[in-house]
Amino acid sequence: MKKIGVLTSGGDAPGMNAAIRAVVRVAIYNGLEVVGIKRGYQGLIEGDVINMDVSSVGDIIHRGGTKLRSARSLEFKTEKGFNRAINVLKTFKIDGLVVIGGDGSFRGAAKLCENGIPTIGIPATIDNDLGYTDYTIGFFTALMTVVNAIGNVRDTSTAHGRTNIIEVMGRNCGDIALYAGLSGGAESIIIPEIDFDIDEISENIIRGKNRGKLSSIVLLAEGVGKPYELAEELELKTGTKTRVSVIGYLQRGGTPTPYDRVLASRFGAEAVNLLINGDAGKVVGIKGNKIISLNIKEALEIPREIDEDLYKLTQILAI
Ligand code: ADP
Ligand code: F6P
Repeated sequence: MKKIGVLTSGGDAPGMNAAIRAVVRVAIYNGLEVVGIKRGYQGLIEGDVINMDVSSVGDIIHRGGTKLRSARSLEFKTEKGFNRAINVLKTFKIDGLVVIGGDGSFRGAAKLCENGIPTIGIPATIDNDLGYTDYTIGFFTALMTVVNAIGNVRDTSTAHGRTNIIEVMGRNCGDIALYAGLSGGAESIIIPEIDFDIDEISENIIRGKNRGKLSSIVLLAEGVGKPYELAEELELKTGTKTRVSVIGYLQRGGTPTPYDRVLASRFGAEAVNLLINGDAGKVVGIKGNKIISLNIKEALEIPREIDEDLYKLTQILAI
């Protein structure tokens, strides 16, 4: 292994820059050459490749987004596009690749491995929707943004005596809603993994009001959706004015939290070590604060399960 490449792919996540920095510096420390591939798999197809040295990753650890930019590439999924990507890797004499992204990016990485390219995946997505790892890069930063938003909404909600629905991202995973809901003291949390009962939520709001609560926050995961319909129904059932905030892309940007920077640095180092040791075809992750790695395909088959105990706790705390 003489030269490795690194790219970021799919939805960007705060902390991706810290991961790029770790990959580049740990590789150089170990005597490897490093190139960066811009705009994920699309940039790979187009040969958008740049040399990376120690200073190329300076001044980025604290920045959200990704210095290498990102993309969702339909072309990479076609045979023609995929073959072009393989040719570019050969042309630039890239012996190994680090892919920083979510499950879609990992599926692409698995295909590259099958075609003889030693590849390692680093999990980075705000959704925290990968089953094999406790946490993904970006999740805790997104949580921080959402929790700050809950605080702001709570101020105005209390001033007016309203219910506020806050919709957060996460695709089909309810982790952002669950963890942010718990941290922000939400009265109700609605996630795709657990059925909800509108009457129970309404009763909870009315009970709170009767004991002097001035506001209620309902955290809604985008995987359940329909926030405006829910607001109408809740308003009808509770007699309380109900407003909606969809946080959207605000929660994908911003300076990464220290935890995300540490996680990204540890993942980046492990990814390079695996490539150096000829142990490719894997994804790195974290389980109980221990850095782990496992076969990409096996990792992708592990379903993400919601922490039901944590959900139950949020219900108890919102009585
Ligand atoms: P994320 O990595 O954040 O989950 P996507 O699901 O959009 O984001 O995946 C990122 C990119 O990975 C896609 O645009 C595509 O180029 C590539 N990709 C996704 N699924 C596959 C697949 N089954 N085979 C090959 N490449 C894939
Ligand atoms: O996967 C990250 C994510 O932000 C999801 O939470 C959201 O559903 C999706 O990406 C949005 O995708 P796009 O950036 O393509 O609009």
